[in-house]
Amino acid sequence: MNISIHPLKREEVDSLVTIEKEVFSYPWTKKMFEQEIEEGSHFFVVKKSGMIIAYGGFWQIEDEAHLVNLAVAPSHQKKGIGSYLLRWLINRAKEMGIKRMTLEVEAKNSAAISFYHKFGFSEIAIRKGYYEQKDDAIVMWSNLQSGGAI
Ligand SMILES: CC(C)(COP(=O)(O)OP(=O)(O)OC[C@H]1O[C@@H](n2cnc3c(N)ncnc32)[C@H](O)[C@@H]1OP(=O)(O)O)[C@@H](O)C(=O)NCCC(=O)NCCS
Repeated sequence: MNISIHPLKREEVDSLVTIEKEVFSYPWTKKMFEQEIEEGSHFFVVKKSGMIIAYGGFWQIEDEAHLVNLAVAPSHQKKGIGSYLLRWLINRAKEMGIKRMTLEVEAKNSAAISFYHKFGFSEIAIRKGYYEQKDDAIVMWSNLQSGGAI
């Protein structure tokens, strides 16, 4: 696949904010992405022919990773890009000695829930009103050591 992946740079944040508004009901703000850079989290951008087509990142909390964001630009969805990125993030986490990965996803986002199932994630809890006290989140979890993640 003719794509590259690199750590998020400050000058790329505006492009991420644009994609966020297209794909999420509760989009991240510019400040939230800037905090990721400032706090040195593991946040990466996928580019194809110089264009940002996907991004995602996780925080490390001891031997766990919390996947805080992952998105593919609408015109590039359903082409394996999300799988490429998640596989890459999981491998990076494993290299860091991380054993488990967890995430929250909007309960009505069935496409993303199917996507994470494919990678061995399972639902472990519901957080009521997680999104601005309105929409629920499903908490998902994967044991990276069991080989569940493809
Ligand atoms: C969820 C998302 C990251 C998936 O990325 P993608 O590049 O479109 O997914 P892939 O092409 O790699 O698909 C991998 C698998 O995910 C599942 N999947 C992806 N899109 C799906 C959809 N619209 N409906 C149902 N299942 C879907 C399928 O199981 C698919 O496998 P298949 O192609 O064998 O059917 C992407 O659709 C996206 O960015 N959505 C908006 C933001 C979002 O919801 N992010 C995740 C929540 S935190």
